Amino acid sequence: MKRLSQESLLWLLLISVFVLGALSLTLILRMPMTAATSTQVSITGRPMIGGPFRLTTHEGKTLTNEDLKGTPYVAFFGFTHCPDVCPTALWNLSELLKALGPDGNKLKVLLISVDAERDKPELLATYLQSFDPRIIGLTGTEEQVAETVRAFKTFVRKVPLKDGEFTFDHIATIYLMDCKGEFFSALDLHEPEEARLAKLRRLIKEG
Ligand code: NI
Repeated sequence: MKRLSQESLLWLLLISVFVLGALSLTLILRMPMTAATSTQVSITGRPMIGGPFRLTTHEGKTLTNEDLKGTPYVAFFGFTHCPDVCPTALWNLSELLKALGPDGNKLKVLLISVDAERDKPELLATYLQSFDPRIIGLTGTEEQVAETVRAFKTFVRKVPLKDGEFTFDHIATIYLMDCKGEFFSALDLHEPEEARLAKLRRLIKEG
């Protein structure tokens, strides 16, 4: 085997350093490009939430997704028999509406019942007396409610209890929809109050 001279070793070392340097440089240059691409994807790739629905308000009027065109809105799925999450969410939405002041009139806040069987308009009307009067309760037939749940890709599961009673498992996500009826953002009850208020202000301004 031919022994490498000191000169050859030096060259080899120089070439390695050069190649490694070039490789790192390529990687560094590529990184911001990759980041920019993924940001673009997340901006254009809005979740396909929202879609046609037809429900009845707590005042007995029909309300469809078409009626809401031109108004940004807030949608929360729940039911009047819910012991915990729903009253908390509705109480918080009432507080947020109060904090928004007159701007609060520029959006609609909807409680969409997942309990078509028990939540008739009259019951929704009574239940909503405890919250901001601008909150609109919505219900419908089992099929109309199921259609709405599908449109928003939300999660609801009926859970049987003793004596033929039942409850629902559901998520506490509050959907913010723009004036075209497309998903804008979501409120999470775990985020700070200020963050929720800022999102609602942005929905009113940009949604
Ligand atoms: Ni609930």
